[in-house]
Amino acid sequence: MKLVYASRTGNVQKLVDRLGVEAVKIAKGDEKVDGDYILITYTDGVGIIPKAVDNFIAANREGFKAAAVSGNSERHPDTFCGAAEKLEEKYGVKIITKFEKDGNEAVEQVIKELL
Ligand SMILES: Cc1cc2nc3c(=O)[nH]c(=O)nc-3n(C[C@H](O)[C@H](O)[C@H](O)COP(=O)(O)O)c2cc1C
Repeated sequence: MKLVYASRTGNVQKLVDRLGVEAVKIAKGDEKVDGDYILITYTDGVGIIPKAVDNFIAANREGFKAAAVSGNSERHPDTFCGAAEKLEEKYGVKIITKFEKDGNEAVEQVIKELL
């Protein structure tokens, strides 16, 4: 299973660095991956999927299997990790975990188990 991620302000990047596995970073959303992948993304706007992430999934729909979503409950209590529900509804994928900022050991563990 491949790992794909999006990070704008560095939190998800920190988590991915700690995982220490090869990963594809979504920048513009026009990247391509072969085979199945897990996505780690932040939440944008008012609990939405970042645009570049949506574009990426549209171009790599088949391999998208599961997602882990970062958010900030202190600043966005009403829409905490809202991208998770949107991903679940729109793409029917399994949500592995919803976590604060750069996550913790439990988040690392649950993602590693699926890689
Ligand atoms: C413009 C903006 C909107 C955000 N909206 C939400 C939100 O609705 N819900 C949430 O849980 N976090 C929200 N966040 C917080 C980010 O998802 C969170 O800080 C995440 O860890 C950022 O990951 P990154 O540093 O890898 O980009 C928002 C952050 C920004 C800058």
